[in-house]
Amino acid sequence: MSEVKFYCKDQQVPLEMHKVRVVQKLFLPTVEERVAKMNAAGNNTFLLQNKDVFMDMLTDSGVNAMSDNQMAAMMQADDSYAGSETCNRLLKSLEDVFGTKYFLPAHQGRACENILAEAFVRPGDVIPMNFHFTTTKAHITRLGGRVEELVCLSGLDPRNTDPFKGNFDIPRLEALIKEVGPEHIPFVRIEAGTNLIGGQPLSLENMLQVAALCKQYGILSVLDASLLQDNLYFIKVREAACKDMTIREITRKLADAMDLIYFSARKLGFARGGGIISNNEKLILKMKEFIPLFEGFLTYGGMEVRSMEAIAVGLQETMDEEIICQGPIFIEQLVKELDAYGVPMILPAGGLGAHINASEFLEGMPHDQYPAGALAAALYIAGGIRGMERGTISEQRNEDGTERYAELELLRLACPRRVFTLSQIKYCADRVKWLYDNRKLIGGLKWEDEPAVLRFFFGRLKPLGDWQEKLAAKFRADFGDSL
Ligand SMILES: Cc1ncc(COP(=O)(O)O)c(C=O)c1O
Repeated sequence: MSEVKFYCKDQQVPLEMHKVRVVQKLFLPTVEERVAKMNAAGNNTFLLQNKDVFMDMLTDSGVNAMSDNQMAAMMQADDSYAGSETCNRLLKSLEDVFGTKYFLPAHQGRACENILAEAFVRPGDVIPMNFHFTTTKAHITRLGGRVEELVCLSGLDPRNTDPFKGNFDIPRLEALIKEVGPEHIPFVRIEAGTNLIGGQPLSLENMLQVAALCKQYGILSVLDASLLQDNLYFIKVREAACKDMTIREITRKLADAMDLIYFSARKLGFARGGGIISNNEKLILKMKEFIPLFEGFLTYGGMEVRSMEAIAVGLQETMDEEIICQGPIFIEQLVKELDAYGVPMILPAGGLGAHINASEFLEGMPHDQYPAGALAAALYIAGGIRGMERGTISEQRNEDGTERYAELELLRLACPRRVFTLSQIKYCADRVKWLYDNRKLIGGLKWEDEPAVLRFFFGRLKPLGDWQEKLAAKFRADFGDSL
């Protein structure tokens, strides 16, 4: 039985299963100020100041609301360098949830990726995965490895409503292993809640099949559990064979099949930090020395002890279906409302946020005018809403300097967990609908300053022409004095 609560008899309107006890004031600059601020930020939402943002939907990373129990646990943090009780409590919570004995702490998810890559990736190696994540790929390619994406075909089809669009294409995975040879594949990476294709989950069955194939060929299976929380919920409600399993049972079954699991606790566990866990001591020993070298001593790995206490409690909350349903059902509300209006959304609603298909929203705009980036800039102008470009700007150029066009041009509207109320979600929908009605006014972007690595973080772009002023003028005409 699903623990999701709705409050209307005939309509599924999600209900917040928590109350808000600490609040933060928000500001909404005028539309004219929003145009100026967007340009001061180089049309890159990463470069906006948070004080100028009304709804921060950039990411779900490190911005999820903490619970009273997490805050209480933070007060008992044991701030000792060695032999810390905080570390013992986190170890115990990890063992309780995942059944793993060993834990290597790291300051966040990409730090785990760095350590995994240093320990296992050699030049010429191939690392298959359902889909890449930006930082994962950067660490693997930095060491001369190559990423192969093997997500099932429906994963790249925005309107396909397959419930598990993050699944591996198993025959293609096996064909790749045979073609490249298992000796050139140090591990297969399984990304729960596949980030860059719209937070789409994998089924438990598919993950177990991948792990079994890895075992058959003597290849390590590595689970990126950063977005596992939403994926667990989707397994429970979408996978018929798992409907009678508890979230704990699903987690344990999955964890038992993996050689290594790593996570960003900025997402998993409503906190900050990360780490690598396993029951395989040999594998842990291969990575252990990198922790004091890159992160910090083995009791904290660059994390603040208070964050470690928050993770220990947050992981337990992740096992509560009534808590973890909140992200997906609020996202679904936003996706449904926009889809009903005709806005091209990635379907079905995934985890971490709602995703707009910018290629279809801005039909006809070529990849090299960066439709997802242009839409992100336009939405900030329309509503002070900060989304994130997940399209060509988020890719790296090819070695010959040509653009690598993204498979999907997406504007991601992340929904940090337990942060927004239903009326804020409705405000967001309202501004996206207005923008959709006025989409012909939106123009493209061009580079002004393009960094060579992870350019989406710091790069600066300029609008092509004066479309932003025209969009602001239309907003003023439609909304009058209102913000
Ligand atoms: C699936 C996935 N893996 C890894 C990372 C990297 O984690 P972090 O931001 O903590 O470095 C992220 C962050 O968004 C992610 O979504």
